[in-house]
Amino acid sequence: MFKKLTRRRSLYLGLGALTALGTFAGNGELKRQRIFAAYDPQRDFSVVGGDSLKKRAASKGIIYGAAIRHDHLKEDAKLAAAVANECGILVPEWAFKWSVSQKPLRPNPDSFDFSAADEMLKFANTHGMLFRGHTLVWHESLPKWFGDRVNQQNAKQILEKHIKTVVGRYAGKIHSWDVVNEAIEPVDGRSDGLRKTPWLELLGTDYIDYSFRLAAAADPDAMLVYNDYGLDYDTRKHEAKRTAVLKLLEGLKSRGTPIHALGIQAHLDGEATDFNPTKLREFLRNVANLGLKIMITELDVTDKKLPLDTTVRDHIIAKAYEDYLNVVLEETAVIAVLTWGLSDKYTWLSEFQPRADKAQVRPLLLDAGMNRKLAWNAIARAFDKSLRKNRS
Ligand code: G3I
Repeated sequence: MFKKLTRRRSLYLGLGALTALGTFAGNGELKRQRIFAAYDPQRDFSVVGGDSLKKRAASKGIIYGAAIRHDHLKEDAKLAAAVANECGILVPEWAFKWSVSQKPLRPNPDSFDFSAADEMLKFANTHGMLFRGHTLVWHESLPKWFGDRVNQQNAKQILEKHIKTVVGRYAGKIHSWDVVNEAIEPVDGRSDGLRKTPWLELLGTDYIDYSFRLAAAADPDAMLVYNDYGLDYDTRKHEAKRTAVLKLLEGLKSRGTPIHALGIQAHLDGEATDFNPTKLREFLRNVANLGLKIMITELDVTDKKLPLDTTVRDHIIAKAYEDYLNVVLEETAVIAVLTWGLSDKYTWLSEFQPRADKAQVRPLLLDAGMNRKLAWNAIARAFDKSLRKNRS
């Protein structure tokens, strides 16, 4: 039964609604102001010379590269030329996943299709690039047959066969493997912060150690990496993830598991205002103190919520790249920086984080025509300014 609204009560309700509306609009306006505050038209993004990113990085003992799709590399000569020119390391965006679209590595439980990975290894070798593998054990991009065929009785054998076959085939040819990807998710509520994945369900918490041991046995020369995202900002969610990832890494090291590095995906947000250099620096140091190296494995900056104006957008994106890398490259345990893609023409963000205004997204360092953007300058500047010792 609704209580008759007195005049006073309706007045309070009205005021409340206005305040809420005002706040909401204010928040929206506040956010817009904050985003524009990141836009500093006076900021200097100048770069000396035209050396490639791989050259600038290598002069400071850092490896720079990118994730590229095999079909794009094959079909787009301009992209291929840009990859060869800018990258010192190459990682297939799809070819080593159990199953993504056109060329699944694992079409069925008894076979492997290495054609895409082999093509990309050939490209890397032709251009004197290092080659890295992504990823052996992940809860995504599993083939349809996985759910139908894998169970607690055969899961260990299937995991063993996969890692032995894939890692064994490329032994001695791989710089590093993302052995396990995105195994931490505190939101899933487990005390150990592990993500509830099919692998955890089928094999228990040992699946991570076991995967690393299998990879080490199959290729003793490869650097073995645990890879994850959401580790970058001063937010409760990212702090919880950093804590859980550190706990995982400490556990792996304490059991003598052959893990050599943490992969920080670094999918950044141009709109983010909670970037805290001190927090990030502290996390990197904590990882390094475990005796681990660090790779920035999937760097990009979404412009999803940035203003339409490309001058403003490109500035804010470039700032995000340079500010982040300035902190990251201070940590000597950081050995590599890879962007997730090279050109705005080919980015997962077009499909996965499209702009509401449907404008083409501009998260990467080359534009659709493979021309260097301000983000390229930002990354080049970060390498050039790095106080690492110069290596000729
Ligand atoms: O091209 C097909 C299309 O024909 C089909 O209709 C559609 C629906 O099945 O799928 C399309 O392929 C999708 C492909 O992206 C191209 O958009 C695949 O399903 C989809 O799985 C694939 O997503 C990839 C995703 O990983 C899952 O493997 C992205 O390209 C790739 O950039 C993304 O990369 C991940 C890293 O591996 C791990 N870290 C996060 C990163 C971004 O999500």
